[in-house]
Amino acid sequence: ALISMRQLLDHAAENGYGIPAFNVNNVEQMRAIMEAADKTNSPVIVQASAGARKYAGSNFLRHMILAAIAEFPHIPVCMHQDHGTSPAINQRSIAMGFSSVMMDGSLLEDGKTPSSYEYNVEVTRRTVEMAHACGVSVEGELGVLGSLETGQAGEEDGVGAEGILSEDQLLTDPNEAADFVKSTGVDALAIACGTSHGAYKFTRPPTGDILAINRIKEIHERIPDTHLVMHGSSSVPQEWLAVINEFGGEIPETYGVPVEQIVEGIKHGVRKVNIDTDLRLASTGAVRRFMAENPAEFDPRKYLKKTIDAMSEICIARYEAFGTAGNA
Ligand code: G3H
Ligand code: 13P
Ligand code: NA
Ligand code: ZN
Repeated sequence: ALISMRQLLDHAAENGYGIPAFNVNNVEQMRAIMEAADKTNSPVIVQASAGARKYAGSNFLRHMILAAIAEFPHIPVCMHQDHGTSPAINQRSIAMGFSSVMMDGSLLEDGKTPSSYEYNVEVTRRTVEMAHACGVSVEGELGVLGSLETGQAGEEDGVGAEGILSEDQLLTDPNEAADFVKSTGVDALAIACGTSHGAYKFTRPPTGDILAINRIKEIHERIPDTHLVMHGSSSVPQEWLAVINEFGGEIPETYGVPVEQIVEGIKHGVRKVNIDTDLRLASTGAVRRFMAENPAEFDPRKYLKKTIDAMSEICIARYEAFGTAGNA
């Protein structure tokens, strides 16, 4: 069944688990996520980015998610719009039937210039007013996402600040977070705590607390009833980097957020964990390996099936690690 994000995250908070929110662009990703959710009995959050809408088209995405709901009627599914850059964009998604939207007012409409606090409050408040009237949940974002190690926002198109960020911008302020939630009424808040989008988060193998776990704790203590969201939560599996590079790829050394660090965040109020890059890496590794080992094969279903299996395995691992499994 289609369900709002609020309902899912309230249950996650009451029971102390987190829910991965996977980005979807094609039917293989959708199947991988649903098969994993079915096997582990997990609730699902799937999210469509601006890039996904450009690639597949909003109608295709919408009907694909509805098809998943029809095929897996026992799994609750939240249809979320990732990184909306204006109230108008969110309005369109609400009208299309999304059960949750993100108003990312931490950046201006161009998706790369950090905005003022007042601007963020204003666009987020307007989105909440509209969305709540329709029973749709809203995620806001406060702080600018970027790696604490490199000071860089990461590599996604359309969602990342330019230039090198200061530590002040890279960590959400707990008092400001409390004021933001009170002024806007958001259901969930994406915070900056040291993660960044894309595959290039850390240049060295992460050890100890690579995330600002203390900051997450402080924010959670200030706003215990607001569900926290961690963007840029891919772990960048070294096994898949190795497969990609073994079969002709050239991805330089790079590291993501260790799953154990995310689990630490979940202990302190993180309920929605955004993952896109990991499924992209698994998918690419699976295709490269299949192509190299089966040079005479040309049926796309053969290699795309490998991507479903590879992505599904990652989804299962995250559902289990975050405690999502068993909660559908
Ligand atoms: O937040 C970023 C997501 O990974 C989506 O990226 O706009 O390239 O689809 P995309
Ligand atoms: P990753 O690039 O780490 O997968 O993060 C995705 C994300 O935050 C989507 O909003
Ligand atoms: Na989001
Ligand atoms: Zn994001």
